Amino acid sequence: MTDHQETATVPAARKDDGTPIVVVDDVRHSFGSGAQAVHALRGVSFEVRRGELTALKGRSGSGKTTLLNLVGGLDTPTGGRISVDGTDLATLGEPDLLALRRDRIGFVFQSFGLIPVLTAAENVGVPMRLRRVPAQEREERARTLLALVGLADHAEQRPGELSGGQQQRVAVARALANDPDLIIADEPTGQLDSETGRSIMELLRAVVRSEAVTILVATHDPNLIELADRVVELRDGRIVDASTPTPTP
Ligand SMILES: Nc1ncnc2c1ncn2[C@@H]1O[C@H](COP(=O)(O)OP(=O)(O)O)[C@@H](O)[C@H]1O
Ligand SMILES: [Mg+2]
Repeated sequence: MTDHQETATVPAARKDDGTPIVVVDDVRHSFGSGAQAVHALRGVSFEVRRGELTALKGRSGSGKTTLLNLVGGLDTPTGGRISVDGTDLATLGEPDLLALRRDRIGFVFQSFGLIPVLTAAENVGVPMRLRRVPAQEREERARTLLALVGLADHAEQRPGELSGGQQQRVAVARALANDPDLIIADEPTGQLDSETGRSIMELLRAVVRSEAVTILVATHDPNLIELADRVVELRDGRIVDASTPTPTP
C-alpha cells in the first residue's frame, strides 16, 4: 500500500536492531524559577526498548506527566537529553517536532480526548487527515483499527453514545492511525473502573504484539503494572528502580 512511500519520507528503522527507541539521559525539568521553582524531574535516566510495553509508575506528583510530555516533544527539558528513534529532540525545530508527533508517536490520555461532534471512525481519522491521507483510505483504515480494538459495530457512534471504556478504545485506535513507532499513554485507565481499566491495558498489551509498536504508559495502578514488560518507578522526580523486568507469572 503506502509502505513504500512512507519508508521514503520516514527513514527511521522500524525493526528491532537492539537500539532503544527512547533514551532519556539525566533529564531535569523545573517549572518556574527562583524560590518558587518546582523541580519536577531531578536527573532522570532510562531507556525504552523497542517492541516492549514499559510502565512508568509513581504516585501523583512524582513527575510522570512531565516526563511523558518531554519524551513526546510537547515540552523541552530544562536539562539533559532525550532521543527518540536515534534523534536528539534538542536538534529538532518546531516543524520537525510537529512532524515527529504526527507521524511517529501516538498519544493516549486519561480523559480520552475525543472530539464530541465526530463519529468514532471520524475521530480515528483525525491524525490521518493531518497527513492528508485521502478520504477513502482514511475511512478504510479507521474501520480496520476500530475492528482491532473491538468496536467494529460502533464506527458511526459519537463519543457521548459510547461508554468510557469504549471511548478509550477509540482513542487507542486513533493513536495507531498513522502507524506510529511509539505510543505514549498517560494514565489511560485513570477514569475507568478497575475491570474496564484492565481490559484497556490488555488491549495495549495485545497491540504491542500485533502492531509492532512500543508503548510507554504512565500509571499508578499497581494491578496494571504486572502487564508491563518493564517497570520504571519515579519518586519525587527521580528514578527509584529502573528497567526492572517484571517476573513472568
Ligand atoms: N505546569 C506546571 N506548573 C507548575 N508545576 C507543575 C506543572 N506541571 C506539573 N507541575 C508540578 O510538577 C510535579 C510533577 O507533576 P506531574 O508530572 O504532573 O506528576 P504526575 O503526572 O506523576 O502526577 C508536581 O509537583 C506538579 O505540581
Ligand atoms: Mg500525571
